[in-house]
Amino acid sequence: MKKTNAFQFFNKVSSVKEYSDMYKKLRLDLRYPANVKREQIFVKLLKKHKPKKIIDAGCGTGMPLIDIKKKGFNIIGYDKAKNMVSEAKENLKSNGLSPDLVFYDNFENPKKVKNNSVDCILGMGAFYYAKNVNKTLLNQKKKLKKNGRLIFSLRNRLFDIITLNNYTKKFLDEIYEVKKLKKEWKNKYKNLTKNFTDRKKIKLEKNIDEEGVYNHIPHNPLTITDEMTKLGLSVEGIYFYHFHAFPPLFETFDKNYYRKISWKIENPLDWRGFFLASTFIIDCKKIF
Ligand SMILES: C[S@@+](CC[C@H](N)C(=O)[O-])C[C@H]1O[C@@H](n2cnc3c(N)ncnc32)[C@H](O)[C@@H]1O
Repeated sequence: MKKTNAFQFFNKVSSVKEYSDMYKKLRLDLRYPANVKREQIFVKLLKKHKPKKIIDAGCGTGMPLIDIKKKGFNIIGYDKAKNMVSEAKENLKSNGLSPDLVFYDNFENPKKVKNNSVDCILGMGAFYYAKNVNKTLLNQKKKLKKNGRLIFSLRNRLFDIITLNNYTKKFLDEIYEVKKLKKEWKNKYKNLTKNFTDRKKIKLEKNIDEEGVYNHIPHNPLTITDEMTKLGLSVEGIYFYHFHAFPPLFETFDKNYYRKISWKIENPLDWRGFFLASTFIIDCKKIF
């Protein structure tokens, strides 16, 4: 199946509306406010590092940017989806802020940001939509001053283990190298996983893969430090969010209860996040 580019998907009126509204709707039964938790973690890190000049890459409707600006930080942002930029300008105006704080640019190769000019770059649900994530990160790093910070979220590959569904099957097939096994063992093994949930058969909100949006395979929080070091970024912290207290299938039985117990265990530093959280943030410093 041909994948849609992320900025085209996010340019749709429905995506713009969803991203404008989600930060306003804090009720758990409306939508699990994982992005609100994410924003809290970013704000905490900004308060710790106190960067002078911040860029929000892939700022979407600008809602997190507006919150951060209102907390007294010097932040601007950009996005490649034109409708997101227009919505962000409207949101800025209705919050009494200048619409010029946001503009059009591409985070894979930003043209409007000078090299060595920024203290901190944020990527909230952004960089894994790039066609080439590592190249994107290297281009982002160029924009940072010495010791500048690149703080961004990634999808968690280890989360596939606890979902007990098609993703788990795929993950286990890969790490057990099932393809290489003798037939008899393959069949016995298939029996073990046959009762895992088939996401196509249950009523869950479609995820970004099922929407056919291009995105990078999730990252592994156990190896991310080594991966980033090779790019000249030192990982100074890993913070988990969007915890799932039970396999996602159970959300279809009682959405409110599922979200309530999941919200209760949100804790960015809990080791269970390596498995129970679908996403994590890394706080990186430019080392070379
Ligand atoms: C999941 S949304 C997150 C938006 C915002 N950061 C937030 O947290 O609300 C991802 C955003 O990245 C933008 N995007 C995707 N590819 C991009 C690119 N190459 N350059 C800039 N923005 C891009 C999309 O248009 C979308 O607004």
